[in-house]
Amino acid sequence: MRMTDLIQKKRDGGVLTAQEIRWMIEGYTKGDVPDYQMSAMAMAIYFQGMDIEETYALTMAMLDSGDRIDLRGVSGIKADKHSTGGVGDKTSLVLCPMVAACGVKMAKLSGRGLGHTGGTIDKLESFPGFTTALEQDAFLRQVDEVGFAIAGQTAELCPADKKLYALRDVTATVASMPLIVSSILCKKLAAGADVIVLDVKSGSGAFMQTDEAAFELAKTLTEVGRRAGKRVVAVVTDMDEPLGNAVGNALEVKEALAALRGEYQGDLLELCLTLGTQILREGGAAADDAQARAMLEKAIESGAALEKFAQFVRAQGGDPAAVYDPALLPEAPVKLEVPAAAGGYVGRIHAESVGLVSMHLGGGRATKEDTVDLAVGVVLHKKVGDPVAPGESLGTIHARTEQAAAQAADMLRDCFEIAPEPVTRAPFIKGVVK
Ligand code: URA
Repeated sequence: MRMTDLIQKKRDGGVLTAQEIRWMIEGYTKGDVPDYQMSAMAMAIYFQGMDIEETYALTMAMLDSGDRIDLRGVSGIKADKHSTGGVGDKTSLVLCPMVAACGVKMAKLSGRGLGHTGGTIDKLESFPGFTTALEQDAFLRQVDEVGFAIAGQTAELCPADKKLYALRDVTATVASMPLIVSSILCKKLAAGADVIVLDVKSGSGAFMQTDEAAFELAKTLTEVGRRAGKRVVAVVTDMDEPLGNAVGNALEVKEALAALRGEYQGDLLELCLTLGTQILREGGAAADDAQARAMLEKAIESGAALEKFAQFVRAQGGDPAAVYDPALLPEAPVKLEVPAAAGGYVGRIHAESVGLVSMHLGGGRATKEDTVDLAVGVVLHKKVGDPVAPGESLGTIHARTEQAAAQAADMLRDCFEIAPEPVTRAPFIKGVVK
């Protein structure tokens, strides 16, 4: 086989065989297929697309390029969740303990934040002593005994994806349906769970900027996942503003704890209840959606989900006292309100720009080597659709210095679009694809 022939075939709209795709991915992983040829292939795929068989073959070839986590030793049903990315997305911190308190285990591998999006690992390091560097044995034991664990990746999962994703990033080929589907699913399949729930974001702050594209992505993900023998459900959600109100590491942990205490109602909780419902039903812990949702609500009301979170923090070396007393978490010395320049209704909050405000304050990384300031960030007081009076606070900046706070306040004001007329919010949960 020659890579030139495969590039030409795809360029001209041909369909690659599973054997050709496997040969190409194996060669690319080993370094036999050079980056320049793989770039040309990625661009050919970008323009010509791939059918479902090709997408499945690409997913499986990338899955087989590296290690897999073996969850068979963990009793019961194991679930995993993935989000296509968002600002203020602390879903895992609320969802995992809720689901674990209802009897379905969650084995999650997470990353650090880069650019305007935060990473779950950084957020969790707000607990003094907390570590996500778990050896595989300890990870599996904790999933079995506590019901969930969140660890950084140690095994070499899907090295082909790591290489290809970096290449796509610099060749304008990220936004390709088959490339996105195979990239997301190979990693989820390698992580070994039986049930996979995917949060597919739709809107200006997301990969998929229209509902049509988001639903197509959701359908392809569930179809390819099913072919791979997994129970996969995708929930399509709105991403025209940050999720919840807090953006910034410890601030997001505090919001997640408020949700687990039952003191938060809003899009974050709705998302966790919706994703959790799919997990409990697919995992066989609930007979139907109504029963699943009631179980999850009860886990919050009874304090079981908060208790589960405390067990998890303790198991991973953190101080669980902060779970019950969030004042023990990192706190920024400077707090500054951001008054609205004019009155009206919030039409939009540019999610990515809010992420950049937090990054500017030191809460995110511009490069992988940067360290993050866990205390800083933004707490929004207004969400899309809310009325605003002139001078009313749009949000609070949590900063290290007065100067950083003042700059961030100007940036945050620019993230808001205020409309003169009432604004109708699009439904937050746009649909569930099974
Ligand atoms: N997330 C991934 O892991 N890969 C993509 O291609 C897009 C989102």
